[in-house]
Amino acid sequence: MNILILGSGGRESAFAWKVAQSPKCEKLFIAPGNAGTTQYGTNVNIKVTDFEGIKALVLKEGIDLVLVGPEEPLVKGVHDFFLADEQLKNIPVVGPQQEGAQLEGSKDFSKVFMEKHNIPTAAYKTFTKDTLEDGLSYLATAGLPVVLKADGLAAGKGVLICLTLEEAQAELKAMLADAKFGEASSRVVVEQFLTGIELSVFVMTDGNSYKVLPEAKDYKRIGEGDTGLNTGGMGSISPVPFADAAFMQKVEERVIIPTVEGLKKDGIPYKGFIFIGLMNSSGEPWVIEYNCRMGDPETESVMRRIDSDFVDLLLGVAEGNLDTKELIISPKTAATVVMVAGGYPGEYLKNKVITGTENVRDSIVFHAGTAMDGEDVITTGGRVLAITTVQDNMFSALQQATADASRIYYDGMYFRKDIGFDLL
Ligand code: AMP
Ligand code: GLY
Repeated sequence: MNILILGSGGRESAFAWKVAQSPKCEKLFIAPGNAGTTQYGTNVNIKVTDFEGIKALVLKEGIDLVLVGPEEPLVKGVHDFFLADEQLKNIPVVGPQQEGAQLEGSKDFSKVFMEKHNIPTAAYKTFTKDTLEDGLSYLATAGLPVVLKADGLAAGKGVLICLTLEEAQAELKAMLADAKFGEASSRVVVEQFLTGIELSVFVMTDGNSYKVLPEAKDYKRIGEGDTGLNTGGMGSISPVPFADAAFMQKVEERVIIPTVEGLKKDGIPYKGFIFIGLMNSSGEPWVIEYNCRMGDPETESVMRRIDSDFVDLLLGVAEGNLDTKELIISPKTAATVVMVAGGYPGEYLKNKVITGTENVRDSIVFHAGTAMDGEDVITTGGRVLAITTVQDNMFSALQQATADASRIYYDGMYFRKDIGFDLL
């Protein structure tokens, strides 16, 4: 069968790497892809939100299945677009329809959903411009720190953790009255701050049954020792040592089952991934957020621990028989180190020539923000490459991924050398 992956980051590179290995995959296309995805398939320069362009490609190339990487096309309704089109409606899309994608597209929607289905999450209230005064009074009674979340998609920047009441009130005003995050902050969720250690849990569902993929931990801060600004993700490891069987059983019983069942009860069709951002607070799971897609850079580690045919699992989602499919998870440890551009996550350097990838020994180099410039591979994004290693134990995996990252060079390159070492 012919498969199309939408997206261009490290996550989509890891998907493409895994999909291309399946005997079921004949031709693989990636739109738009990056300089690395051409190793696995054919790049097509179409934006993930250009639904008409995607339609033309799907019809021209006889695509049999579409795997959606990022949230934006899902929240904008790419799956609904397929279902509403006579020529596309029988071509399965892995990724939820617009309504299900609201789990990520609207923080308020996800909080209402969790409350309704008794899924453990921080206490909250939602405010709009019209209820700004109530919001300011509510903040005065809420404990500190307090978390403010723009309701809509805000490119990962819409969450603010405020340490003082003055800061929280000023930010709430900026978000609601001055549209700090545009339309995304026309509603704001104010929620209780949770303490603990975070992890990412991934569920694949056909809307009826589900499979729990390997969990991962993501390192979000730019600086070593988890300091400095938030980024898209500087590295990941899987498995996560503190997510032991007892903890994961709680996650399944209290979060995963009520989520999948809740979607069913609410009549929300859902075929795709549910990424559950969790806080482990003294051994108890609390949901921080849902995403309607896989995580990046978690997917790079997760794909390398799946030993069964990933396309077969995707077909299970598409055809509604996921329960008959086999998911084999490797007991080994996968570690990913993300190499970023100088200046990232602020204004960053671009168009720098990347050298040394041929010297990498034990890792796969998943491309993210890269492009070809003649014969050269150059940097184009903030997150440039994701270096992923699998080893028998965590220490070797971390050491190898870090050593391999240091074999690559481009002007201004930076990566964290402490990914995962907090958990050893
Ligand atoms: P989100 O965009 O929802 O992933 O939030 C970004 C980050 O903010 C999360 O990964 C957490 O580190 C942090 N965060 C969000 N909500 C809370 C909360 N209620 N308590 C503590 N930290 C939070
Ligand atoms: N690594 C976090 C995310 O993909 O949102």
